[in-house]
Amino acid sequence: MLKFPEHFIFGTATAAHQIEGDNKSNDWWHYEQTGQLPYKSGKACNHWNMYREDIDLMASLGYGAYRFSIEWARLYPQEGNRDDSAIERYNKMLKLLNSKGITPLITLHHFTLPLWFLSKGGFEREENLKHWERYVETVRDEIKGGMYIATFNEPMVYVMAGYIEGQWPPFKKSVRLASRVEANIIRAHNIAYEILKDKFKVGIVKNIPIFLSSSPQQKDLKSAKKADDIFNFNFLSGIWSGKLKAIYGNYRVPEGDADFLGVNYYTAYTARHVPNPLKLFLQVELADMSPRKTDMGWSVYPEGIYKAIEKVSRYERPIFITENGIATTDDDWRIEFIVKHLQHVHRAIKDGYDVRGYFHWSFMDNFEWDKGFAPRFGLVEIDYSTFERKPRKSAYIYGEISKTKEIKNEILERYGEA
Ligand code: BGC
Repeated sequence: MLKFPEHFIFGTATAAHQIEGDNKSNDWWHYEQTGQLPYKSGKACNHWNMYREDIDLMASLGYGAYRFSIEWARLYPQEGNRDDSAIERYNKMLKLLNSKGITPLITLHHFTLPLWFLSKGGFEREENLKHWERYVETVRDEIKGGMYIATFNEPMVYVMAGYIEGQWPPFKKSVRLASRVEANIIRAHNIAYEILKDKFKVGIVKNIPIFLSSSPQQKDLKSAKKADDIFNFNFLSGIWSGKLKAIYGNYRVPEGDADFLGVNYYTAYTARHVPNPLKLFLQVELADMSPRKTDMGWSVYPEGIYKAIEKVSRYERPIFITENGIATTDDDWRIEFIVKHLQHVHRAIKDGYDVRGYFHWSFMDNFEWDKGFAPRFGLVEIDYSTFERKPRKSAYIYGEISKTKEIKNEILERYGEA
């Protein structure tokens, strides 16, 4: 049997645009209508209207924590125009969560922006941070019943997808802009930390992919380290040091802090050296770590979650696994995925790493950004034609783990790693 510490929290995670539906004032919605994004989020899971049912279900399944995001564009659909009914709705969600004993963790930026903010240049311009400041102050003054706040979700994914690969809004391909956005996000995090720190525990959520060298050759080993620095460490170190070594160039930012670090972990990548300065001499690809690939085409590499924890432990802050999950309709495989990753989390705790909780991605199937509704990440299945919620077997098994804070031998034997 594997026993987790009493204070350890087990929860699930979602994000506003992926579940709420009708997020009409943000940039993703806009580009979904223009066709620059391949899929439309539409009503998504209709969670904006069904949040009571969803939170009731979470509670009945026995989950002790819930990570979700506030949609900035709902609070401020137009510049300077605050919608108090949206604040009220989020407060109702929080009240319900707290009444059910579910610990909330709120994300402030999960990839989407109010369209008006993006139109002003978004995080490309430092002077725009005054608008972010107003949003964060509103959260501090009006949002009641939250405990943990993550300022940003996966800032480097946002920077890469929106400013290097040009696949996500605002569809740009510029290392210079990407670097500027990276610096401004650190500034924005530190601004938010100062505003919120007396009322909440304030952290940031970072995707920590594992970069493996594509060969034992020195140049490839160096490339793997370089990828790790560019994607994982330079950003996080910049929060505390006030010096950001960005993708391109160095930036001075005010020194800041974080009360906790959220780690999102999914899979591993390989890195190799390529003789192309435009690619920063680096080629990064999905690693082939398991014969079977998820519906995202990702390998399953449970050991990586231990490595991710080990990596961020250098910042000496409490760690939450804020996302970890699998896109599949084979629910037995999902159970296996959860159990195996939790075995490694447990090992990390035993080895002395300060891991305080695990949030499974995701509570329910949802809108997977530029992949649409096809990938099924949910513990709970969504029938998108009726919005019926159907908990999968994994939802119940994970609920047992959450309630008892232990994984029983029969589950370990059936689904776990030897
Ligand atoms: C994101 C989620 C996303 C998940 C699966 C993370 O990068 O934070 O929004 O759905 O991965 O791709």
